[in-house]
Amino acid sequence: MFINSAPFNAEPPRQALVSSYVTPTEFFYKRSHGPIPVVDDIERYSVSIKGLIEKPKEFFMKDILSLPKYNVTATLQCAGNRRTAMSKTRTVRGVGWDVCALGNAIWGGAKLADVLELVGIPKYTNTTPAGGKFVEFVSVDRCKEENGGPYKASIPLSQATNPEADVLLAYEMNGETLNRDHGYPLRVVVPGVIGARSVKWLDSINIDSQDCKGFFVQKDYKMFPPTVNWDNIDWSTRRPQMDFPVQSAICSLEDVNVGRHGKITVKGYAVSGGGRGIERVDISTDGGKTWKEASRYQKPGIQYVADDEKSDKWAWVLFEADVDVQSNTEIVAKAVDIAANVQPEKVEDIWNLRGILNTSWHRVHVQVRHSSM
Ligand code: MTE
Repeated sequence: MFINSAPFNAEPPRQALVSSYVTPTEFFYKRSHGPIPVVDDIERYSVSIKGLIEKPKEFFMKDILSLPKYNVTATLQCAGNRRTAMSKTRTVRGVGWDVCALGNAIWGGAKLADVLELVGIPKYTNTTPAGGKFVEFVSVDRCKEENGGPYKASIPLSQATNPEADVLLAYEMNGETLNRDHGYPLRVVVPGVIGARSVKWLDSINIDSQDCKGFFVQKDYKMFPPTVNWDNIDWSTRRPQMDFPVQSAICSLEDVNVGRHGKITVKGYAVSGGGRGIERVDISTDGGKTWKEASRYQKPGIQYVADDEKSDKWAWVLFEADVDVQSNTEIVAKAVDIAANVQPEKVEDIWNLRGILNTSWHRVHVQVRHSSM
């Protein structure tokens, strides 16, 4: 589990990622743009909320801990997940992730909607009387993309104040105190949205009339068409990416596998943004000509139904299918979400210069050895 050390970015091996529904913290991918900050004086640590509001306020850790605690199981996915495969089509810029720059954790913390109520912003607010429409999160860590300034991102106020959107100020991950890599002592978790908006090491919150002007909102993490290159790019023409599209990947096999003919169990994950559940995962053993439906599951003993209240709406599903492989072939996975969004077939069609949101059909190659007996 290692990619590079400065800044610290890492993803687990494929098999390890799908060995459990809740990703153990040590197998959870890590993505940071600057050095991991040390926040050790927890008594003095505070988050100030200011901007276009009537009652700016400073929250100490004890204030956050005194609010009702929620546990939300949510998959966090880096927008650059599966970038390496996209760069094989045409070069892209960014960290070369395989298929494991995501994880599914139980996040524990206060709801942002509850916190904002304490500064005078009621639930389900689109605009504050002073014109605030966005919630900007500013962090403690410093990164070169911000010229040494803090990492920051924003989400709409309507999402932040909607308790059903489950946006958390999280201090726990998988039942334990958040660790330094993942944002100790406090991070934002925005379920269903690309990981870049879930700001770690939270320092302050700013209510603004516009989206955050930071690098990662304005000059990164936007989806451009394949015609846009580094010479003709105009960042202002595209919206900052929020929800991630429907995604799946096979994790029980590597890109190229050599094995005996016969039965293979194909396992992997599927997830969609915006709380859209996974309606179907299709597996092909002939490069996408014919398909077989995989079984999907989340929690043991509970049947997964995409839009059922017993299912974790912000979380991935794991899938499994037994297939028979008799000769060299390509095994493919594609998922369909409850809005009937389907993964695109070809990576070329969604190629973009930053290599984000590679959600094309996931393909692995199997070479079969026939014994002479
Ligand atoms: N927050 C801060 N402060 N600094 C960062 O570099 N990286 C973002 C986001 N929050 C980042 C951040 C990105 S791009 C992703 S994908 C997620 O954190 C990764 O979260 P993780 O390291 O807990 O998996």
